[in-house]
Amino acid sequence: MKIDILTIFPNMFNDIFSESIIKRAVDSGKLEINIHDFREFSNDPHNKVDDTPYGGGGGMVLMPQPIFDCVDSIKTSDSKVILLTPDGVSYKQKIAYDLSKEKHLILICGHYEGFDERIRSICDMEISIGDYILTGGEIASMVIVDSITRLIPGVIEESSHINESFNNNLLDYPTYTKPRSFRGMEVPEVLVSGDHKKIEEYRKEESLKRTKDRRPDLLD
Ligand code: ADE
Repeated sequence: MKIDILTIFPNMFNDIFSESIIKRAVDSGKLEINIHDFREFSNDPHNKVDDTPYGGGGGMVLMPQPIFDCVDSIKTSDSKVILLTPDGVSYKQKIAYDLSKEKHLILICGHYEGFDERIRSICDMEISIGDYILTGGEIASMVIVDSITRLIPGVIEESSHINESFNNNLLDYPTYTKPRSFRGMEVPEVLVSGDHKKIEEYRKEESLKRTKDRRPDLLD
């Protein structure tokens, strides 16, 4: 998979993709990430990328020209163009799964003060990572890249995400490791019983209980 990210803050991405699982995915050739400073595409003599809003009001608005030209320079028939914005669809694990099957994603980082409405016309999808306002789409795009990367076949062991939270709309069951007794807290008996059928039942029950308790909305 290839992911191109359009931003005016390319340095924000310096370290985030050169650690851990994302680094491994890149090193093994399963993922290619390119960061584009769309300021470089500005036709303005001073590389301006934003201007005041028509109709008045405060703040600066991202202009369409640098973003359109940057997208034109990298887009192919395989590309899916995504805008990160608080008014996009709510990001969910299901969307991460769907996106992990794409060949090429172009992520456009919006700006908290706003962007020209016409930028939406070149996007196939708009995503919000939550009901709060970030200073820009950069951190949102990192969230998208991280959550997708671990779903690319071969990046992590498939068994690691078969039972994880949000599969089948359920939260994860509780897990334990050694020691069996820690500061007075014991590992549930069933998990050391060796009875795999009982363990599976216990995990299903706990998963359902936790979901009812913490995220009843997932069961609706
Ligand atoms: N840009 C600013 N806030 C955002 C959010 N919540 N999700 C995606 N992009 C954003």
